[in-house]
Amino acid sequence: MRVVSGIQPTGNLHLGNYLGAIRNWVRMQDEMEEGSECLFFLADLHALSQPHDPAGLRAATLEMAAALVACGIDPDRSVLFNQAQVPAHAELQWLLNGTARMGWLNRMTQWKDKAGKNREGQSVALFTYPVLQAADVLLYQATHVPVGEDQKQHLELARDIAQKFNNDFCTEDAPVFTLPEPIIPGEAARIMSLRDGTAKMSKSDPSEMSRINLVDDADTIMQKVKKAKTDPEPLPSEVAGLDGRPEAANLVGIFAALAGQEPAAVLAQFGGQGFGAFKPALGELLVETLGPIGARFRQLKEDAEALDAILARGAAKARERGVPTLNAAYRALGL
Ligand code: ADP
Ligand code: NA
Repeated sequence: MRVVSGIQPTGNLHLGNYLGAIRNWVRMQDEMEEGSECLFFLADLHALSQPHDPAGLRAATLEMAAALVACGIDPDRSVLFNQAQVPAHAELQWLLNGTARMGWLNRMTQWKDKAGKNREGQSVALFTYPVLQAADVLLYQATHVPVGEDQKQHLELARDIAQKFNNDFCTEDAPVFTLPEPIIPGEAARIMSLRDGTAKMSKSDPSEMSRINLVDDADTIMQKVKKAKTDPEPLPSEVAGLDGRPEAANLVGIFAALAGQEPAAVLAQFGGQGFGAFKPALGELLVETLGPIGARFRQLKEDAEALDAILARGAAKARERGVPTLNAAYRALGL
């Protein structure tokens, strides 16, 4: 099994990023059996499809790398790198551009959604980035690719490109590309703002109190939980009792996600109690989980040299795994 997955570099990481995205990678890594491997990359090349700020991209790439390592991605067990350091991604994309069809890309709903009515004003990269995504996974002979609902169509496209390339340029017994299978991750935790249970916890929220940042220390975490918006009712003893109480549902959801429990189990324990009892328990659980992560994260974030070294080592490993496929693709094309 070879799993390949990318994440957009983004800064100001918070509890939502951890529970909704990063933790799933750590789990995948920890579930790998002997002989199987995960390749995790920071999708910095994909950032070019949208207007971007170069210094911000560099900072976000390092911050995301720091967060991944702090949260448990082990650069010795998994291959952790950024795309831009492995030129084979961009090279293979160009080779695959000859195989991908305009009609296929035109059908991508992400393209239609992101471009809206202003197609003429979009970067070419916004149109062709699904081909780069295909290269990202085909380069490594990925057998499995975790995909959310919104990315299913792009993995389907990668399979179509691989199949057409194998068909057009390879003999039946020597295909260049493996067709990757999707892994549909279990439903991801969706963490809401601490100030408004109907808004997603987000780095874009102007209120610092709305989110718990990965850099927050124990006191800050406890303060934010204490000040989190709630209602005056005690917690219900059953999940149905959370209907119409988004703030309560969110706090129970966070507790459940951190404790690895179902919300029903959390309510079995805390049902009938007020937030005066529940919030300190939630705060402590957060501090227990995020404390060690935050400490390591703060330390790594300040050490660009160590991060660069980790990413350089990962890139070398990635090149080792990807270059044979790239060479085979060149040969198949007569190049
Ligand atoms: P933000 O919303 O803070 O700008 P991003 O959009 O950069 O965060 O998200 C980066 C990753 O973290 C994505 O995989 C996204 O699904 C996940 N994520 C972000 N916010 C949340 C949240 N509140 N709950 C669950 N997952 C989240
Ligand atoms: Na966002």
